Amino acid sequence: MIIAVDGPTASGKGTISKALAAHFGLPFMDTGMLYRAVGRQVALNGGDADNAADALAACDFSDSLLDNPVLRDEATGGLASRVSIHPQVRAALNKRQVDFANQPSGAVLDGRDIGTVIAPHADAKLFVTATAEVRAQRRFDEMISRGLDVDYENILADIRARDKRDSERADAPLKPADDAMLLDTSDMDAKEAVQAAIALVEACVDSTL
Ligand code: DC
Repeated sequence: MIIAVDGPTASGKGTISKALAAHFGLPFMDTGMLYRAVGRQVALNGGDADNAADALAACDFSDSLLDNPVLRDEATGGLASRVSIHPQVRAALNKRQVDFANQPSGAVLDGRDIGTVIAPHADAKLFVTATAEVRAQRRFDEMISRGLDVDYENILADIRARDKRDSERADAPLKPADDAMLLDTSDMDAKEAVQAAIALVEACVDSTL
């Protein structure tokens, strides 16, 4: 079984995808980490994330970078969103994701274009959303709990900018697949969101038996 989970930043899709993978016994890929590695590598190379040639050169990152906690930083997320605009970068990262999706065991992948581009044949597709304000509050709470000195309004502005860039780009924009099930987690805590996601996937898979 292939489960595709897409949605904007801080929607809860990462938590949901990991829980789905554990529940259904499937391997999991967070595809945003690939774009984050490219964004980080551009910075390490002294390149410009908005320059297609610099971004493409950064696709040649070492796999060890994928384990580096710096990839989780907000700054790296912004760089990832910028490099992800370039079609050459998306093409360079495509095979790795398609191969992961199509492995014999099945898989769960989360990202922006899993249901539309990487695995349009997925057995279940979820599009996870929440209002920008709720997502900003979650990000704010998480950063405060890590002892960071952050400003809610700045986080909200960053989230809005990333949503706009990710959904307005020409190549593989963030959008629900026509056959995706929408899950709005604005009024849910993590446990409720996970339970709702499992129920949606189970209902979807049952209906195809
Ligand atoms: O899911 P994330 O926040 O880690 O993703 C970081 C950026 O990477 C996101 O703003 C856009 C890009 N991305 C993408 O374009 N396609 C994906 N499948 C995953 C991430």
